[in-house]
Amino acid sequence: MIYNNPFLKLSELVPPIAMQGFLITMIVLVILGTLVDIIHKKNVKYFFENAKKAKKSATKELRAGEKASVIAKTIVYDIGTTSELGAGKRRVAHLLGMYGTILFWIASAVMIFFYSSSSSSTAPSAWPVIWHVGAIMTVLGGSWFWFFLRVDVYSEAQPWYRIIKADLFVLALIATSLFGLIWSYLQSLNLNDRWDDKVFLVLYVISNLVLFGGVYWSKFAHMFYKPGAAIQKNLAEADGSRDNLPPEADAPEKFGLGIKREAPKHY
Ligand code: HEM
Repeated sequence: MIYNNPFLKLSELVPPIAMQGFLITMIVLVILGTLVDIIHKKNVKYFFENAKKAKKSATKELRAGEKASVIAKTIVYDIGTTSELGAGKRRVAHLLGMYGTILFWIASAVMIFFYSSSSSSTAPSAWPVIWHVGAIMTVLGGSWFWFFLRVDVYSEAQPWYRIIKADLFVLALIATSLFGLIWSYLQSLNLNDRWDDKVFLVLYVISNLVLFGGVYWSKFAHMFYKPGAAIQKNLAEADGSRDNLPPEADAPEKFGLGIKREAPKHY
């Protein structure tokens, strides 16, 4: 199964051009959803106004090279390792899901555009493997988060099966990978005229429509906002403006004993 390129077999049913059109439609949906979100929340407008205001209190003018170095470090460390989540399970689960999704999406695009037609050359086995491994990582990372780490489950003792609108993103993400995996598995069994794999193909398509069509209502766009905010924060540290926050106190940290009573998790 892991070497199965599901899009090649799918081309017997759906022409590659239609698969490519579907993928492009998903990208357009993400762009539209994010733009509408930006217009509705006015978050980017606030972000730039705030950055402009903070710049006035900068103590240092950054040269282009310094800026590039801050941005590169932010991409590699803050964004690439989701440092915002600190050390621990939450970060490991996020990294599993994030890199899994990136691998799954890249392999999907490569196989759909270059290896989905019977006339194209066979996909190097690395691509189907990356697709399946990416999907498995996403299901593991996403499920770990869903069942054990969500704030309302972890800290507020809500049952894992309580679903609210904010769960749209993580659930749609898990669904696309899980249905994709089951579809590929059933397809690799060569069930011929049986309907099993087609049912999961339909579920795979629907979950993709929900994931990419639901950007406006879900947390999808955090994958664009978070990196932007991390870059701005680190540039503001480097130029001394600190987003107009007071400098850190030059004194030992004193929080009293209370903070040692239990691990902080009531947020
Ligand atoms: C392909 C890229 C990414 C994927 C698939 C992804 C996936 C997820 C998922 C499923 C969640 C849980 C959402 C929820 O609360 O229901 C989440 C939360 C989060 N993500 Fe991402 N993410 C991505 C990129 C990023 C990036 C680039 C950053 C930061 C630089 C980031 C930072 C966060 C943070 C801080 C949370 C909140 C975690 C928590 O509440 O425990 N994510 N992400």
